[in-house]
Amino acid sequence: MKRIVALLVLALAPVAAAAADVAEGRKLIEQNHCETCHHNKTLGDAKAIYLRKDRRVTSMEKLVSQVSVCNSELKLQLFPDDEEHIVAYLNDTYYHFPAKK
Ligand code: HEC
Repeated sequence: MKRIVALLVLALAPVAAAAADVAEGRKLIEQNHCETCHHNKTLGDAKAIYLRKDRRVTSMEKLVSQVSVCNSELKLQLFPDDEEHIVAYLNDTYYHFPAKK
């Protein structure tokens, strides 16, 4: 059993190491209808939630955790990689925090 787990970890490792992908992030946001819910909240256009004056996300750390919160709320069960792509897209498009690492 241990051996099978180790093999699985090895098989998945290259995927987990892939760099965050902005285009992939945009696709994920569309596919998962993130913005339907945000639209209900802001009653404005989909982008308004990211750009509102009293927005929550004021740092890269907060962006990462907010994406995670919304992911669990939706029960999307996105992989950590998917969250990374989404974070990359949102940062590239709206927030422009200095890159991590
Ligand atoms: C169940 C409804 C819902 C869904 C679905 C949802 N969100 Fe959200 N999201 C919210 C609400 C509500 C807020 C505002 C939280 C607040 O102001 O306290 C928010 C805020 C955010 C913010 C922070 C905006 C700011 O203030 O700067 C980000 C980033 C975000 N969501 C990303 C996502 C992503 C990515 C998805 C899809 C994977 C998603 N959300 C799906 C409800 C949702």
